Amino acid sequence: MNQQQGIRILAIETSCDETAAAVVVDGREVRSNIIFSQIALHTLYGGVVPEIASRKHIEKINQVITEALQKAEMTLDDIDAIGVTYGPGLVGALLVGVAEAKAIGYAKGIPLIGVHHIEGHISANYIEDKDLEPPFLCLIVSGGHTHLVHVLDYGSYAILGRTMDDAAGEAFDKVARAIGLGYPGGPKIESVARRGRSDAIAFPRASIAGEGYHFSFSGMKSAVLNYLNSCQMKREAIVQEDVAASFQQAVIDVLTGNVIRALEETGVKKFALAGGVASNQTLRNALAAVCGCRDVAFYCPSPALCTDNAAMIGAAAYYNYRAGVRSGLDLNAVPNLKLGER
Ligand code: KG4
Ligand code: ZN
Repeated sequence: MNQQQGIRILAIETSCDETAAAVVVDGREVRSNIIFSQIALHTLYGGVVPEIASRKHIEKINQVITEALQKAEMTLDDIDAIGVTYGPGLVGALLVGVAEAKAIGYAKGIPLIGVHHIEGHISANYIEDKDLEPPFLCLIVSGGHTHLVHVLDYGSYAILGRTMDDAAGEAFDKVARAIGLGYPGGPKIESVARRGRSDAIAFPRASIAGEGYHFSFSGMKSAVLNYLNSCQMKREAIVQEDVAASFQQAVIDVLTGNVIRALEETGVKKFALAGGVASNQTLRNALAAVCGCRDVAFYCPSPALCTDNAAMIGAAAYYNYRAGVRSGLDLNAVPNLKLGER
């Protein structure tokens, strides 16, 4: 490694339905970020089909890595370490990235670093805001996760709250399917909601009793389904725009409610948003306003870094690399990997 060139990490992400590779230097400078999205393929089935996802990853993985290296104007000989998502996610999908990363690491004799997918989402903020340093609070909202985390230091996390049932993005996807918008639901609901009234239907905002800042979205999702059924039984018209806007507002109220409480109770003055649902502009605006009136600095990656990508895995891998974390060739996919666990 040439000191002046920085630590160059080739990162791989295949935990769900994006086959992605990126080259990131010193954790914050993205030289390339290539994503092959499988969304069109899974849309046919109304959601991600795990077996199809794995097969497509196998087909595409070498192509996205080659493109990532070409775009970065590098070869594997220029790479100092390989970062790869090893959990959580779909086991067959994760295995494709893990096997590829192990093969490259072994062939080139360079370190391998297994990365937690949520740590990747959090680290997307380091790419977007070069000055952001822990500690800060981070809300990660994606298709598989809803976590409110106190990022104490690089690689050090205290989970303040998590969903007790559905993830926020999962609720968006299920409601979108129910109102006939299809997959992936989040962006479709956001777009339709722009023409609807957010106060048209009073969907419930669940709060979880007891300590912590936990979330629940399954009751809200059921309330939407019940509302749709009752309209059908009464032969009343369903205004798709109003259902979308009212549901989206209910999700945002639940998320912002816990964030406000956590900011006030911890006194932390930096807040970051992350994960696919963080690309929702209404949510971004709501949380920016929450932070703005409390003198809290607000951070949020651009939408392309919110949804799954490999650049965020490269950023997380860098801070693990610096901390001396190395994975062996026995690295395996861990579908239920907990944040902070190795
Ligand atoms: O982070 P991500 O790409 O994958 C996971 O790690 O799950 O998140 C995907 C999720 C999907 O549920 C998708 O519907 C949701 O993020 N999503 C959105 C928006 N864009 C993507 N949800 C709400 N509004 C959006 N604009
Ligand atoms: Zn994700």
